Order: sequence, then C-alpha cells, then structure tokens
Amino acid sequence: TVLVVDFGAQYAQLIARRVREARVYSEIVPSSMPVEEILAKNPAAIVLSGGPSSVYEPGAPTVDRALFEAGVPVFGMCYGFQLMAQTLGGTVDNSGAREYGRTDLAVSKPSSTLFEGTPAEQAVWMSHGDACSAAPEGFTVTGSTDVVPVAAFENDEKKLYGVQYHPEVMHSTHGQQVLEHFLYRGAGLTPDWTMGNVIDEQVATIREQVGDRRAICGLSGGVDSAVAAALVQKAIGSQLTCVYVDHGLMRKGETEQVEKDFVAATGVQLKVVDASERFLGALAGVSDPEEKRKIIGREFIRVFEQAQLEIMQEEGPEVAFLVQGTLYPDVVESGGGTGTANIKSHHNVGGLPDDIEFELVEPLRKLFKDEVRMVGQELGLPDEIVQRQPFPGPGLGIRIVGEVTEERLDLLREADAIAREELTAAGLDREIWQCPVVLLADVRSVGVQGDGRTYGHPIVLRPVSSEDAMTADWSRLPYEVLSRISTRITNEVKDVNRVVLDVTSKPPGTIEWE
Ligand code: XMP
Repeated sequence: TVLVVDFGAQYAQLIARRVREARVYSEIVPSSMPVEEILAKNPAAIVLSGGPSSVYEPGAPTVDRALFEAGVPVFGMCYGFQLMAQTLGGTVDNSGAREYGRTDLAVSKPSSTLFEGTPAEQAVWMSHGDACSAAPEGFTVTGSTDVVPVAAFENDEKKLYGVQYHPEVMHSTHGQQVLEHFLYRGAGLTPDWTMGNVIDEQVATIREQVGDRRAICGLSGGVDSAVAAALVQKAIGSQLTCVYVDHGLMRKGETEQVEKDFVAATGVQLKVVDASERFLGALAGVSDPEEKRKIIGREFIRVFEQAQLEIMQEEGPEVAFLVQGTLYPDVVESGGGTGTANIKSHHNVGGLPDDIEFELVEPLRKLFKDEVRMVGQELGLPDEIVQRQPFPGPGLGIRIVGEVTEERLDLLREADAIAREELTAAGLDREIWQCPVVLLADVRSVGVQGDGRTYGHPIVLRPVSSEDAMTADWSRLPYEVLSRISTRITNEVKDVNRVVLDVTSKPPGTIEWE
C-alpha cells in the first residue's frame, strides 16, 4: 500500500486516484496521524500531499523527521515538498515568490529518477506562496522555474523525492509519468493492482464475514448499490436477497429499470417494497435539507428491518448483514478518512440512526467511482447500469427545495424526464457527469403564457462535469439543447414557468442543492 498523507484541501484524493491509475493500491491518512502509526501500516511508499497552509503559519501541519529516516520511499508534492525541504535542513522562504497556475519547469537533471525520459521543458501546475531556495544536504536539484530555484529535488540513495508543483493535476503534462517514475523506479513497486484482484479479495472477505448467514442489500437503481450487490451475489449467491425500496422519490421509469435490467443481468433474488406513503408521511412539513436526509436514511433502515423480518420468516436463517454501496469519497467526506469537516450526511454513512440492527457489508468502501464501474464491467453488468450517472440515495427528496409532496414530486419527475430525454437525444450522457434537475418549490415568479399571467415555480438545471464528484464544474451545454429542454419543460409541465441554469462550480456549490 502507498499511503497518501493528507495535508488538507482536495489534493490527497486526486493523488490517491492517480496512484491507483498507475495500478498501485493507495490509501489516504490524515496528517495528524502520528508517524509511528503511519509506519506501523507498513507502507511500500509514502506521498506527502499539497495543502493550503504555509510552513510558516503557526499551527501549520508538520511531519516528523522519523518519517524520512525509516527507509520508506517518500514523494513530497507542493506543501509536502516544502515540509520535506524544511524538515531535512533545506531553506524555504516566504519571500513573496509566489506562482499560481501553469508554469514552465526546466529539468536540470534529465537522468534523474523522476524526470528521465520526459522533456527538458514541461508545463507544470503551481500553487504556492513560499519557495525552496536551497535543497537539504545530500539532495540533487532536478528542476527549477523562473521564480523558484529549487522546484524539484531528489536523494536517490535515501529514496526521497520532491516537486514543488502538483503532478496529480491534468495541467502538469508529464505529472502521471513523474508519479509513475517515483512508484516504479524510486520505490521499486510493480503495477499489479487490478479490478480482478479487488473482486477476488472482496469475494473472499465477504464469504468470511457472512459465513452461512444471510445478507440483504438495498438497491437504489444506482451504480454503487448494483455493483455492491453483484459482488456480494458472486460471493454468497442465494444467501443474498436484494430489497428495492420504492420510497416514492424515484425518477420516472426507475423502478421498472431495476426490476428488469438488474435482475436479468445477475439473477439475484429481488423483493420490491412500495413504501412511498410511509416516506411521504415522514417527510410531511419538513423543508430542512439535513432533516430530510436523516428522515430518509432512518426510514430506509426501518423498511429494511421490516424486510429482514419477512425474509427470515420466508427463508429461515438469520439475516444479519446489510450490504451498502458506500464509496471511498463518501467515507472521506463524512470525516471517516481524514478528519475533514462533515459536509453533508450522506445517507449511507453519516445519517444512519444509532439503533441500527445490521452488521454492514461495504465491499466498495475503498474504491473510487471509476473503479466501481470497472468492477461492474468485470462482473458482467450491462452498460445501462454500469455507465449510469450518479443519483443520490435520498432521490428527488433532496431536489425539491422546500417541503416534499406528492404533487411536487410528480411535477419534478416530469421535468427531470424531459431533461434526461433531451440530453440523451443530444448524445451528451457520457460528456456530463450528472444533471440534477431541481424544483424550487418555495419560489414563485410571474410569467405569461397564452394571454394570461402565470405565477409558477422555477426548475433549475444543474449539469456538471466531474471526475469524482469531489470537485465539479458546470457543463457548457450547447444553447440549442438548453433551449429545447427549457421550451419543453415550460410547455409540458404544469406550474413551471421558468427554467434556470446553475453556473456554479464545486466548490463553492455542491452538486446537489441540498
Ligand atoms: P454533492 O451534492 O455532495 O454530491 O456535491 C456529490 C455526489 O454525491 C451524490 N450524493 C449522494 N449519493 N447518497 C448518495 O448515495 C446521498 O445522500 C448523496 N448526496 C449526494 C450526488 O448526486 C453527487 O453525485
């Protein structure tokens, strides 16, 4: 395992993904983790991430010198690079020599471990205030920029490497190659981590965890729960029953899709529970987003417990396990990975009630979304499931800003179906990550239709492009497509007289509105 030490911001997750793209398994640990604990995990190599701090800020995260003396190969990036420089006796000054964005790096030692075979001049992505002016003793300077004399260094004997820039971002043209040089040449690792391995390992783990008891799995229609279910089905076969809770917050045609496509692909036992009245009842009068999320999470579990009882009556042996499609970013964002602030209580992690009666099976807990898709493909699931855009567990319940009612759900379902239809017709499904359609139920605006004044609700389109949902940008959709969606929605959906486009990136906005 390669450990990525997280010094804040969003860099660590991206680095972890890049390491895995190099087919080496990686995990994230918080920078607050004591060095003994980090080393006790026996890492094959360590990457120190960038972060928002300056090494001169009081209270800025530091790193224990022992980390560099344990004989484990270390690669410092940006803030991690400066920490490495400072801790080992180099000079870092905050002379105001700042660089942001695209910069040219001049490689000064073409035969170095990191840069061999890459161009002498290469575009790199910088984001720093302080700069290293002298490398620590024993280190060779391997690159510089116009502003920074020491922009990359290495001590090959001690297996310590660093770059001032961010090799993990796309704009650093040879970043992935440099990272791979560190992993393969510097740390001597072999690229042998594959989805096949993940499946074998998970199948064995699940078999051991579940034994001869039974598990149930909630299917949401999304990729994650589908792949989790297929994986558990492979491990324990008929000891698994899938439960599909129709909470009434689904999109148009979704229930039928699960019943048809998924069962056909896996042959899994499926129990469909119609619980829409129960969810709508519990949500009556509630407009607060977190409260909605908690209620939906709680009711989910209750419905599963009910399903568990029924399945036990039918099948006999104990149903002790609940399978969930929790992903690595959910774990990290809910504070499980890095101590990062809790941004939203994703209902499959933070929003669980305390009195839960199942043991959880979470076979995707260490995977990123693109890896889940690869696992799904490997397991033989059809493209309609594996390439499906993400849809949140709480469904349309968190896409109605205001109270959730049957009438509003029907209205949103219509608008959403139109948007999806047009995006698919325009061939844009692969290009956008997802496109939430949001009803601003508490907002009304004046319009005119036919000869009459209307006083209706706005619908928000939120098309985003993203690699992992951690950060996102709004998609620049063609005007004609937007226009068609807008015209159709305002013509075909009762009580909607305005369509607006959300042009906010994440951060500062999140993808969903609640
Ligand atoms: P945000 O809104 O946090 O969304 O930028 C990031 C991604 O997560 C999805 N999402 C959820 N998925 N349960 C889920 O399974 C949830 O409670 C949940 N909330 C948000 C969202 O659609 C986006 O893909």
